[in-house]
Amino acid sequence: MSSNHLVIFDTTLRDGEQSPGASMTKIEKLRIAKALEKMQVDVIEAGFAIASQGDFDAVKAIAEAVMDSTVCSLARALDKDIDRAAEALHGAKSARIHTFIATSPIHMQYKLQMEPDQVVEQAVKAVKRARQYTDDVEFSCEDAGRSELDFLCRIIEQAIAAGAGTINIPDTVGYAIPEQFGNTIRQLMEKIPNADKAIFSVHCHNDLGLAVANSLAAVRCGARQVECTINGLGERAGNAALEEIVMGVKTRADLFEVETQLNTQHIVPTSRLVSTITGFPVQPNKAIVGLNAFAHESGIHQDGVIKHRETYEIMQAQDVGWHRNALVLGKHSGRNAFRTRLQELGYNFETESELNEAFARFKDLADKKHEIFDEDLQALVSGNSLDDTQGRYRLVCMSVNIETGVIPDAKVTISIDGKEHTSNSKGGGPVDATYRAIEKIVHSGANLQLYSVNNITSGTDSQGEVTARLELDGRIVNGVGSDTDIVIASGKAYIHALNLLYKHQVKQLPQSDV
Ligand code: KIV
Ligand code: ZN
Repeated sequence: MSSNHLVIFDTTLRDGEQSPGASMTKIEKLRIAKALEKMQVDVIEAGFAIASQGDFDAVKAIAEAVMDSTVCSLARALDKDIDRAAEALHGAKSARIHTFIATSPIHMQYKLQMEPDQVVEQAVKAVKRARQYTDDVEFSCEDAGRSELDFLCRIIEQAIAAGAGTINIPDTVGYAIPEQFGNTIRQLMEKIPNADKAIFSVHCHNDLGLAVANSLAAVRCGARQVECTINGLGERAGNAALEEIVMGVKTRADLFEVETQLNTQHIVPTSRLVSTITGFPVQPNKAIVGLNAFAHESGIHQDGVIKHRETYEIMQAQDVGWHRNALVLGKHSGRNAFRTRLQELGYNFETESELNEAFARFKDLADKKHEIFDEDLQALVSGNSLDDTQGRYRLVCMSVNIETGVIPDAKVTISIDGKEHTSNSKGGGPVDATYRAIEKIVHSGANLQLYSVNNITSGTDSQGEVTARLELDGRIVNGVGSDTDIVIASGKAYIHALNLLYKHQVKQLPQSDV
């Protein structure tokens, strides 16, 4: 691969999933992995195989399904982690093991309680063990952003000698500042004698809002892999956003002498898919993928764009996958057209009954909404809608009375394991009344931590997409529901969240030590 190829390493399914509430099912992860593959991401970090049986299964399924991207699993620098990662990656056409150990004084002293020499020894042992399974081994110095340069040089030189082909420098706690971080990368590459035998990578967190800036500074100083996530999802304030990195180097090719192989037209659909599956809405003013990213409000700007687009636009909306809400399907469209359009959007139904259920939901929607756009279709078949027909709890029907001056009243019927239950409740508003009525039936005791509504397309007949974040015993889940009626969408989102909480209770595994 040429030295100006910038490797895009996507960690939405691993670090992204570490965002509170962003846990995904195996099927949802597979869908995202297929979308990433279609976008031509070089490496997909599919999970942390030893973390749980669910993670292992997801890494294994993605390894078997993805052909055009390398599939990677994270592993601590421990034999059992590396063996488990290798086991999960066994079926992959191209597999990478990503092993890491902390290198900052604070992590070595308090977290690992190890001497620096022991850390080096363990790193070397881990890289060698991983090389027994695959030629593609990445080594990360966790908390490199707060590690000492000389120690980094020492451990990295030995990791490369042991067989690591990619060296990752994570700013784990988002502490770095662009110029300083870029210098660190430059110095490491200059000082380490065998640096030319590895690709240097960066993995930046966004605690100071600098993840993308730090990553780009590192690329200017020689890094040739960037670890990032769709929509900047990730632990705490998140990771560097893939769409910003890719469009940054593409738009400013005059400054970055690198190229990615990404098909950027898949950026917006993939962002939408990740947002719908995780229940993390994309803020309207988010760069590249926010609803307003290409919208011009001021008259002066509009006038300029009409006269000559480049006066106020540095990128073309179509290049990142925005399109003018083209009407795709309507009330009279058939099953085949429905299936074909969804295949084009990256959805493949696994069974005929799954297709039939989704098609029935499409017909219901087409009765309420004349024009059905791609975004509507994506919401219709996103993981959460399917879960609602398959989960333990199902919303059978609901009605809400609202009138000026009268306290709202909701009546909700839910089926639990196939048995129907009905309840009424008043509330401060229609959504509050609905949630109280649901709780009267299920008694989950969960706390509603976040509630948000977004319109999926424009117009008053647009579907509303509601996210309801519930917390129970420290476990956080994001339920998502969509409907042309936002109160019904709210009910669906709550039920989806309850199903996620319930799924977690039944699947709870013995605690692992990660
Ligand atoms: O932030 C971090 O340090 C990580 C490593 C495991 C790469 O996610
Ligand atoms: Zn991270």
